[in-house]
Amino acid sequence: MRDVRHELLTGLTTKPKYISPKYFYDEKGSALFEQITSLPEYYPTRTEKQILSNVVSQLDFDFTNATIVELGSGDASKISLIFNQLTDETLAGLTYFPVDISYSAIQQSITGLSCNFKLKSITGLVLDFNTQLHLIPKKPKRLFLFLGSTIGNFDETERDRFLKNLYNEMQPGDYLLLGLDRVKETAVLEKAYNDSKGVTERFNKNIMQVMNGILDTNFIPDDFAHKAFFNSELNRIEMHLVARKNIQITIDKGINISLKQGESIHTENSYKFTDKDIENMTQNSQLKIKQVFSDDKNWFSIIFFEKN
Ligand code: SAH
Ligand code: AVI
Repeated sequence: MRDVRHELLTGLTTKPKYISPKYFYDEKGSALFEQITSLPEYYPTRTEKQILSNVVSQLDFDFTNATIVELGSGDASKISLIFNQLTDETLAGLTYFPVDISYSAIQQSITGLSCNFKLKSITGLVLDFNTQLHLIPKKPKRLFLFLGSTIGNFDETERDRFLKNLYNEMQPGDYLLLGLDRVKETAVLEKAYNDSKGVTERFNKNIMQVMNGILDTNFIPDDFAHKAFFNSELNRIEMHLVARKNIQITIDKGINISLKQGESIHTENSYKFTDKDIENMTQNSQLKIKQVFSDDKNWFSIIFFEKN
């Protein structure tokens, strides 16, 4: 908890101010993200699901007695698509570890999956995939899943560090399926983060309620405006909370921070990827690409890597 407070205080007292996107996902934030995934404007989920829904027969991986580790598993609706393509016999030999920082996401997904699929075992792991990958049990033939382009929420340094850590944790014979959102027309990208129902706005503003809980701050969500735009130089959607007026925030009833009208707190980056980015990522991580699956419009890709 001391690390969490230190991290948050550092972000709120530097310029420009920021909060790590991992704090979006309390129970309410996880539920809001689930709502985002079915919005018409939010194309990544349905596009990736379309690719996943017939991937098993094409994938160069034998699921017999395998272990699947899903990082940032969320509502686990994507793994269900994979399980639906496997026979009862194969499912009966499978071990599944959903890994997420959100306790509510893990709890709800395990309940749902256990009712629908008879696996050898399903064990949820509530941990931070940035710092605690070593806590994932070592088993033969693990297939890691990191879907939804969650890797796009890291900057380049964090991404390289994450993939290097994962590479070091992986054993020969382990594989990774990585979902990546691609660079595309700006209007399509910006609509996905500025939906007409305002769900993304509520998701963004919920991070202030999370702060109020952890740091005893007095953020009033309506004092801030949701801002999301595509930064075309850095190929990323940026999400911010912009102060509508001059605001004083008290932390732990002791520290005061002030925001001038128009000043923003940067809450998320969502990088979009080019072929060159995928090449660089592969080189830096030492992972080897075995297969690439994309939709017809090339809006989203799932890369199948092996550890060589
Ligand atoms: N894979 C799902 C969910 C993506 S949302 C999908 O594709 O729809 C991102 C997920 O990662 C959330 O469930 C969130 O709780 C989790 N998450 C975010 N930061 C995390 C961290 N540092 N460690 C572990 N899980 C994290
Ligand atoms: C989880 N992550 C990949 C989502 C994204 O698109 O960056 C989170 C999100 N933020 C706003 N809408 C969805």
